[in-house]
Amino acid sequence: MSALLQLDQVSVQLGPVLALSGVTLRVHAGERVALVGANGSGKSSLLRTLHGLLPWHEGRMQCSPGLRQAMLFQRPHLLRASVLTNVTLALWLDRDLGLSWSDARIRGLQALQRVGLSAVTQQSGRQLSSGQLQRVALARALARQPDLLLLDEPTASLDPHAKREVESLMQTFAQGADGRALTLIWASHNLGQVKRLATRVVYLEGGRLLADLPVADFFNAAMLAEHSPAAHAFVQGEQP
Ligand SMILES: Nc1ncnc2c1ncn2[C@@H]1O[C@H](COP(=O)(O)OP(=O)(O)OP(=O)(O)O)[C@@H](O)[C@H]1O
Ligand SMILES: [Mg+2]
Repeated sequence: MSALLQLDQVSVQLGPVLALSGVTLRVHAGERVALVGANGSGKSSLLRTLHGLLPWHEGRMQCSPGLRQAMLFQRPHLLRASVLTNVTLALWLDRDLGLSWSDARIRGLQALQRVGLSAVTQQSGRQLSSGQLQRVALARALARQPDLLLLDEPTASLDPHAKREVESLMQTFAQGADGRALTLIWASHNLGQVKRLATRVVYLEGGRLLADLPVADFFNAAMLAEHSPAAHAFVQGEQP
């Protein structure tokens, strides 16, 4: 099967910092790829590059033709308007979708319903809890019906309950419970979450990709130690 996304030896320079260095990665439809690594290892840079937000100065990146992707940022931004208006506006402004305002509104309502937010559609985006805010951002991304969803630490600022809700939505959508399977690539500092959700784990250090393994192999200490001592040391250090 051909890859949805393909990076070959991609390097990204941000000012004086080499944020990514010679990264090669192939992602196939239906995969759930977790990006792990310490602060500053390049997870956000990789997501931004994959979403076309950072220019790369070396290497090659290819996407399968017609690939629709959406990205969720760590701190979602909402305008001072109702939740529904926020989602509708994002859909209406997306030229690729070509929706009228009323069609965008209907699709927005459906998306908010799917993430369990029907009750707050008329509330101001500024009055939401961080868990609700993250779910609005998820609805806004999913309403565009992407094939690929990129998420930058989607549960980092959430309490355990909200974290579980967002995780379970990620799982539901990735499994295609609503009729469309989604490919996920997300950055996470939560190895428990990675174990629960990922099919594959990519470990970054200093902008370099040092391990890329199926989830079972990544969490098999002996196998990881052999494949990548650096990733093994990271996982050992993260465990309580
Ligand atoms: N806009 C920028 N300008 C210059 N350097 C940057 C910029 N954004 C990130 N960097 C640097 O690029 C490197 C990779 O950062 P990045 O944000 O991708 O890491 P990360 O793995 O997402 O970290 P975290 O876990 O803290 O979110 C770091 O050294 C960071 O300081
Ligand atoms: Mg980051």
